[in-house]
Amino acid sequence: MKKQLILVIGIAFANADIYRMPLHKRATGADALVNDGKSLWYGTISVGTPAVTFTVDIDTGSADLFLPGPTCGSSCSGHTIYDPSASSTSQDLGQAFTLSFDNNVVQGEIYSDTISMAGLTAVDQTIGVAAQYGNGFDIAQFPPDGVLGMAFQSISSSNASTFFQSLVSQGQIDEPVFSLKLSSSGSELYLGGANSALYTGDFTYTPVTQQGYWEVNLNGIEGNGQTILSNIDAIIDTGTSLVIGNPSQIAAFYTALGGTDASSTVGPGFYTFPCDSFPSVSMTFGGTSFPISAETLNLGPVSQGSSDCVAGFVGQDTGASFWTIGSVFLQNVYSTFDIGNLQVGFAQLA
Ligand SMILES: *[C@@H]1O[C@H](CO)[C@@H](O)[C@H](O)[C@H]1NC(C)=O
Repeated sequence: MKKQLILVIGIAFANADIYRMPLHKRATGADALVNDGKSLWYGTISVGTPAVTFTVDIDTGSADLFLPGPTCGSSCSGHTIYDPSASSTSQDLGQAFTLSFDNNVVQGEIYSDTISMAGLTAVDQTIGVAAQYGNGFDIAQFPPDGVLGMAFQSISSSNASTFFQSLVSQGQIDEPVFSLKLSSSGSELYLGGANSALYTGDFTYTPVTQQGYWEVNLNGIEGNGQTILSNIDAIIDTGTSLVIGNPSQIAAFYTALGGTDASSTVGPGFYTFPCDSFPSVSMTFGGTSFPISAETLNLGPVSQGSSDCVAGFVGQDTGASFWTIGSVFLQNVYSTFDIGNLQVGFAQLA
């Protein structure tokens, strides 16, 4: 999800000394992810003492961790509630937070607590404890309890270290790298490196051009064998399902491939192709072209029984200069996010 930070109110935030774990054995960990059927992948964390288990959307397009809190009421109904007063390791950091995801506001108060995932533990991890969830987080549309932001600290609402960054700075993992397989089954978040069983060949790396989001250069987009667009600033966002681009560039892309403008039937910025004749499309990162399968590019029929199908590249005026590369692309590759060398890598799925 691309986060738009709308307001942060800081109240006398006493910055405690950074807690350092004694150095001991480092490790890796694999967290199996659940796919909600189309657009998001969620894993499992445990929080507090005694530990309580929550599910969280793995989101490389934001940098906050938040969970529903005890005062959230009906807006969080159906989700598991994190109650800081029930945890002996929680601390109230005395700071409010407000986040907006595509106009879905999440607000509440910031705490810290111990968090574990796949056997790896960070202490004093900042958590937003929500007092209100926007409609987009309704359990029917959003099955996990909260969001685990995996972008960079600089876009966090409280400029707090992310859970992954905390694992790194607290010496809990082998390498400052996490990797993802996003698929309909067998999906996984691997912490501390890459899982060699899940990819073949070498990674192609591309440098992070600006820390905040995982922002990189998309060298080009090819369709039916020709380069249609090139040199695009893009963020790699596991919390978004679509590929979202600037409307005029998206229009040029579909014009070149014979797509049909479906703004009046599907929605602004959407295009269709006949369901049985989707173009072959690929994206080039770091000089290597990665094909996008017809199954992931094709979002399904415009309406039941229609022979026209909606394509997963959409034009939206987001106000941002970058494109958002979501799971329409990311399901086609094994991806690795390296905060040590500030690069993103893609490899072929095994
Ligand atoms: C955010 O935190 C980092 C590291 O703790 C610090 O260097 C940076 O100045 C902070 N940024 C802001 C905007 O407060």
